[in-house]
Order: sequence, then structure tokens, then C-alpha cells
Amino acid sequence: MWTFRQENFNADEIALNGNRFMLGNGYMGFRGTLEEYGREHYVACMLNGVYDRVGDQWREPVNAPNGMLVQVLCNGEMLSPLTSKVLNHVQELDIRHGIHHRRTVFEKDGGEITVKAERFISHDRVHLMAMKYSVSASVPVKLVIRSGIDGAVWDINGPHLQQLELTGEDNLLQAKAVTGELKHEIITSALNGFQGVNCGTAEAVWMEKELVLAAGQEWSFCKYVSVCTSQDGAGASAMAVLECQQAAQIGYDELLKHHAAKCEDFWRKSDVVISGDDEAQFALRYSLYHLMILATRHSSAVSIPARGLSGQVYKGAVFWDTEMFMLPFFTLTDPAVARNLILFRYRTLDGARRKAREYGFDGAFFAWESQETGDDACSHFNVPDVFSGRPMRTYFRDKQVHISADVAFAIKQYLRQTGDVAILREGAAEVIIECARFFYSYAYYKPGKARYEVLDVTGPDEYHERVNNNAYTNKMVYETMNIALEALDTLRLKDRAGYDELAHRLNFEGELEAWRMMKDQLYVPAPAADTLLIEQFDRYFTLEDISMETLKSRKLHPDEYLGGGNGLAASTQILKQADVVLMLNLFKHEYGSEVIRRNWEYYEPRTEHGSSLSACAYAMTAAHIGKPDWAYKFFMKTATVDMTGHSKQFIGSLYIGGTHPAANGGAWLAAIFGFAGVSIVEEAVIINPSLPEKWQSISFPLVLRGQEYFVTAGREKVEVRSADGNEAPQLFRCGEVSVNVQPGKTAVWHNKTAVK
Ligand code: BGC
Repeated sequence: MWTFRQENFNADEIALNGNRFMLGNGYMGFRGTLEEYGREHYVACMLNGVYDRVGDQWREPVNAPNGMLVQVLCNGEMLSPLTSKVLNHVQELDIRHGIHHRRTVFEKDGGEITVKAERFISHDRVHLMAMKYSVSASVPVKLVIRSGIDGAVWDINGPHLQQLELTGEDNLLQAKAVTGELKHEIITSALNGFQGVNCGTAEAVWMEKELVLAAGQEWSFCKYVSVCTSQDGAGASAMAVLECQQAAQIGYDELLKHHAAKCEDFWRKSDVVISGDDEAQFALRYSLYHLMILATRHSSAVSIPARGLSGQVYKGAVFWDTEMFMLPFFTLTDPAVARNLILFRYRTLDGARRKAREYGFDGAFFAWESQETGDDACSHFNVPDVFSGRPMRTYFRDKQVHISADVAFAIKQYLRQTGDVAILREGAAEVIIECARFFYSYAYYKPGKARYEVLDVTGPDEYHERVNNNAYTNKMVYETMNIALEALDTLRLKDRAGYDELAHRLNFEGELEAWRMMKDQLYVPAPAADTLLIEQFDRYFTLEDISMETLKSRKLHPDEYLGGGNGLAASTQILKQADVVLMLNLFKHEYGSEVIRRNWEYYEPRTEHGSSLSACAYAMTAAHIGKPDWAYKFFMKTATVDMTGHSKQFIGSLYIGGTHPAANGGAWLAAIFGFAGVSIVEEAVIINPSLPEKWQSISFPLVLRGQEYFVTAGREKVEVRSADGNEAPQLFRCGEVSVNVQPGKTAVWHNKTAVK
């Protein structure tokens, strides 16, 4: 139940397997490619938060030289499943401990040569990767082993690495390069656990060793690889060398032990056990694995890009995906990571301020696609047209103003769930204030209607650009104003000096009354009295109402873009992804079940689910209204997206494949907030399970305000254990019955009635 395994080799799945078998530690990611592969097979060691630009192409993250390169030559021919005869091939990912394995048996000269490799990216030492490699033969053979660093890296909009310097001294190799735009130094060092001859080309450096193997003999070695950049501080080159040397001294097994212990710690804090459904169990754990390898434990200077660390797709940029789909998982399982993710927005606040200024607004308009400075990497022409090849004008960058509200909303949830008021002073309050300022300057007061409106926006549904009063956006803007006023009250009460300092520096006090007025008079689309439907935006219901099939039948090209000016969906009610339903999910306690059901039933058939962010919202809302079996298919779609690879690979002619951390987070959201029915309202935690047919129960840990709880939600029974080390009671509610669970005690509800 902890191994993702693939038998047999399929050359068509090289790109997909690179995503499926990813390793990572938040600092870097390494694609699930085979050791002998080169850049044409999408090998990548992607660095989080190190960006660069070539010419006027898109800025994108930089891939480091590949230190995991190992090749075996037999009679001068490199063994690879792509060119050699393979008798058996297995690729495996141990998701519990973040270890990648491959075993390939090649047929050669009437005998078998077996290659085995095990590798991991350390969760204990962020710059380190390590590998154990072995080769054996069933007949006597003479082989050549090459182990080195490949400086020829895969780039989408590169090449970024310039002035490549390759050195080798004894068994220590190094590739050093400087990026073209920002002159970042990128260093990969590798230390081989064997002696050999140093060789190289202009693009690679390696050590070679001749091996004579007797029948049945196995030869193996360990390799330690370290990646550092000038962003890590001065002396990155020496740092990388030292890291390899220290790693070699510690030894592979010991390093693995420490790495695995960190992974165990992750699972202790976040594993979810589903009883009765092995398929769902594995899919959910596999999703959590992907969050484990992206968690930014080491720094708040980086966040989690929309395609994780699986490649340069989407410019390695950070979207609202992080706040709205991943952050809740970290907040409730590992708040230190959530804290870093929030502080990343503070670090990039100046970029958001610049963007607001650029469009003539006050405050902070966060980047739709943020890179390290917070300036927007999203271009005005973000989708290439499949017909003309020309880039199309899109308004993601200009009009998805909800991003600033998403950031504020996420901070509010974090504050409520962690009680970490200190973060307000460390930057969160400033972020929130600037978001409120932005919306105050963005909204319009309509005297005729005596209300504020939010005009000319794009909501989560990107197919309808530049609409007025998008329900999701308006509701989130309302929340932002509220959050700002509340957060400042909290700060004033709990940290007067912090409040005064901020008031002095940002001079916001004179604006508070206007914010309050705007909030009170802001138009938030409400359910219609008769149908209970919430209109996605002004005049949405007047658009052509066609089925998905009809829309698809109108397509002239399988990948044509459906949104924007000319897109087929733009003049219809077909939406790309959950929009109204996402809003209802966030505020489910403010709307009755009937409103949610009617809107779910209306919008779902009209939703393309063209974004991996969509299905989980439908799963959560369906579970909430007591329809877990409607929810199940959306949950499974979300939880399996990176295993199956069933997701959109192109928008227009733009490749968008890779991993989907928002869906990974969405799987957890659907399991915990959906099926287990957890919601955290002010002081109480509600648990209202709505389990799919096959599920007997779902069990999981939660950390709330620094205290640990363990919940088991079954069909008839709900159990909450408060950890021994907890300090205060916490109110939990199941059905109508609330129990103040004391530290070290367990509360049990049978059929929503408390028994203990
Ligand atoms: C979705 C966005 C999302 C982005 C990155 C787009 O296709 O429409 O909502 O933020 O992908 O995942």
C-alpha cells in the first residue's frame, strides 16, 4: 500500500513517468527518469525559486546539471531500455520514505545483465541526493561504468546555464554554471564511491571504470550529489563539495535512515487511513506524497509552484493554487510549512504593490503567476492559438483580481486554525491591509443602485474573461474587507506596539471607515428567490445554454482554447472549472444545503473540469449536502490525476503537463472537509461524516492551535482523541452534540450522540 510500481517498459510514458516517480524536498525536485537518460528524456533537477530568462522568452525556473547520471556500457553499447533488449523492467516509488527504485534486466550476449538503482532526495539535508547503484551479470562480462554529471539540461525556454565549467579530481566531480539573465551560480557536485578515470566532453563530466564481472557477481557503489546556488549564500561551490564529502563520511545507509525518519514524521502528522477502500487509500496517500516532496520546510523565500517541481511548465510560478488548495493541508498538519508559505506572500508584497500601481490601483494586486520577486510572470499573451500559432491576448494577469482576496482569506484561515497572532506583525497584517486597499480602489460605487460593485474581472472560470460581479470574486472581496478590519482589531488588542508601528508606517487608520462602508454596501450575488441559483456573473444566465457535447462537437481542433475573446465557451454557459460551487464550498455554513444542491446540479453539467482544481470543489460540496456517492467520482478524479496522467496536457498549443499539487491538496480537502465533514468555525470543530458507500471509516490527525488531535469518523461512530501533551480543552461538535474534549481524553459519538 505504499509503493507505486510500474512493470514493463513503455517508451511512450517517459514524460509521464518523469512526473509520476518524482522525488523532491521543497528545495529541489528530481524527475522520475532513468539514470542513463539525457535531456531528450526530460531529465530535470528543478530548483525551487531560482528563475532565469533567455532573451524575451518566458522566465522560468532553472534546472541544475544532472548529478544522477550513471551509464553502463557493454561492448561499447550503452544499456538503456530504449535501445537494448529488456527482459524485465520495474520502476518503483516508495511513497512512504521517498525512495525511487529501478531494476532492469537486459539481455546481452546470451546472458542477463541486471542494473539496480535506488535513490532519494534527502529530507534531512536539503542540498543532498544520494544513490546506490549496482550491476550484476548471469554470465562473465566486461563492462564499463560511467558515473558523472550531465550539464546538458532540459529547458523549455532555455538554455539558462552558461559558462559551464566541468571539473573532476579523483572521485569528486563538479559542474558549475552561471545563468544568463541574473547570473545565478548553479553548482552540482558529485562524489562517486569508487575509483576510476576522469573523462568528459564540453557538456558532461564523468568517471569511468572497467568492470570484469564473473557469472553471478554483483558490483555496486554509492553516489552523493549536492546542489547549491549563489542564492544559498556565498561559497556555494565549496558548500556543495563539503556536503558531498560529509555525506560520504556519514554513509548511504545512515543518510537514508535520517531521511526516512523525516518522512515518517510527515506521515505521523498527516497520514489519512481509509478503511474499506484500498484504491482510494492509495490514491490519497500518493497525493499526500506529492505534497510531502514540495513542502517548503527550509525557507519562506520559496513557495509551491502550480506544477510542483516537476518541470518548467507554467513558468514554475506560484498561483492561488497554493493558498486555496494546498495551504489548508499544511495549516492543519504542519503549520510551520503553512507559515513559510504565507510569509512568501509577504516577501513578494512589493511585487504585488508594483503590479497594483501598474494598473492604476492602490495596495497589493498579487501576481497571477508569482516568481521570486512577486512581479507577475503571467504574460498578456498566455495561450498560443492552435490555428494561427499566434499568442492570444488573455486577461488572467490583468483581471483575476481574486488572487489578492485568496491570499487574505488563506491568512485568515491560518490565523483561526493556528492562533499564531505573531505572524500578523511579521508581515501578514501588512499583506492583508494592502489587499483591502487594493479592493477599495478597484471597486466602484454605483449611486443608482446604492452599492459597490466589482467590475471587469475574471473569476476562477477563466473561459469567461472580463465579466462584472463574479459571485466568487465579490464574496471574496467582501471577506477581504472583513478580514482586514478583524485582523487589525486583533492586532490592536493583542499587540498594541505592533499595531502602532504598522499604523504609523502604513498610515491606514484614516481609511478604515471607508473600508467598513464599502464592505457593508458591497454587492454579493445571492441565490434567486425562486430557483435558488446564484448567477456566476452579471448576465451569465443569458448566455447560450448548450451541453458539453454540443460544445465539443463545435471544436475544429482537439486542443483549441475555449475561453477568451473567440473561444467557443465564452458565449455559452460552459465553464472551465468550479466557480460558484467553489464559493459555496468555502462558505457552506452561510448557505443552506438546498442552495448548494441546486447550484451543484445546475453548474456541474456545465463544467468542463478543464482545470485540475475543479473536481475537488464538487466533491466537497456534494459530500456536505449528503451526497457522498456523487462526490466519490470527483474525489477519485482529483486523487488519481498524477497517477493516471489524465489531465489536460495542452491549452492552445501550450504544454501544461506535470504534477498537480493543487489537486493533491484537493484530494485531502475532499477527504477531510468533504467526507469526514470537518469544518472549523470560530471556537468549534464540526465533524459531520458523509462517507462513500465502500468506506467504513476515515482516520487522521489534525493540529489546531498547536494542539494535536486524532479523529476517526465512521458511519455510526465518531471518535476524537486529544493528545496527552495538549494543554487546553477543545470544543468538537458532531450532529447537535458538542463535547469539550480535555487533553489526553477521547470523546465518542454514536449516531451523533455523545457517549463519553
Ligand atoms: C486554472 C487556474 C490555475 C492554473 C494553475 C489554470 O488552468 O484555470 O485556476 O490556477 O491552471 O494550476
